[in-house]
Amino acid sequence: MVDVVESVDAVRQAVAAGRRQGIRIGLVPTMGALHGGHIELFRECRAESGLVVVSIFLNPTQFGPGEDLAKYPRTFDDDLRKCADAGVDLVFAPTLATVYPRGTESTFVEVPGLSDVLEGASRRGHFRGVATVVLKLFAIVGPDLAIFGQKDYQQQLLIRRMVEDLHLPVVVRTCPTAREPDGLAMSSRNRFLGSKARQAATVLYRALSRAKQAVDAGERRADRIRQILVESVGLETSVKLDYAEVVDARTLEPLGDLGKGCPAVALLAARVDSTRLIDNMLLAE
Ligand code: PAJ
Repeated sequence: MVDVVESVDAVRQAVAAGRRQGIRIGLVPTMGALHGGHIELFRECRAESGLVVVSIFLNPTQFGPGEDLAKYPRTFDDDLRKCADAGVDLVFAPTLATVYPRGTESTFVEVPGLSDVLEGASRRGHFRGVATVVLKLFAIVGPDLAIFGQKDYQQQLLIRRMVEDLHLPVVVRTCPTAREPDGLAMSSRNRFLGSKARQAATVLYRALSRAKQAVDAGERRADRIRQILVESVGLETSVKLDYAEVVDARTLEPLGDLGKGCPAVALLAARVDSTRLIDNMLLAE
């Protein structure tokens, strides 16, 4: 089984012991309910570091009042087995009081610009919670390397910006989105989908793939690509689109035309029954 620690001191001791041996320390932050996407991050971390630390902490500050914190899947024992199988060295599973010693309305970090658009516009306060908890985890663990998934495109961009702005001594790596064989991006929330909704949810990947095909075939107008996304998702009437955008992949700013030297990303969020799903695809790099 994998070693599990709860306290700041215990995780710091383990990291300090590794560091004395000159080992590179890698961290993969998670909220548990682990699936194949998380495992890919662990593998990448294993390949790049000598000590692989996975944090499992269901962070309340990144959930809004009407969101799914209460019903977020909690599968701790299964998570530990998956960590052990993936060669994780240490699981850091702190309590709420460890992460937020003065309660959740204490010091926070905000990343202007990237926090308020797309996911941030739909989920007010979400990225303040994400940035704050990730900064805390970086401060507690002190990793050399931290791994995030492209699945949460805006999140990894925001963390990179925070690391740059605050001069944090950590390298951020982003892993490609792990998908089910039919294209659906792996997510802790997929387990909420009934069989019909599960089938309908594949429309997100089809829509993104169509947009990418259009770009590969020469389409350059962002509004036309956006239209392809909206029309494609619209074919599945049970899927309610929240947003579909084609934006600058570095800044998330709106794009007129896709051009040379400007990477573009298509981002989607939609509700399938009561489950909110997101996905994205790089269109041009
Ligand atoms: P969580 O949703 O558990 O995701 C943890 C990490 O796994 C994130 O970096 C996420 O982008 C990545 N991930 C999720 N699904 C993936 C997939 N299909 N392919 C590749 N990577 C995937 O994201 C969070 O937790 C939290 O916001 C956190 C960063 C831990 C802060 O609380």
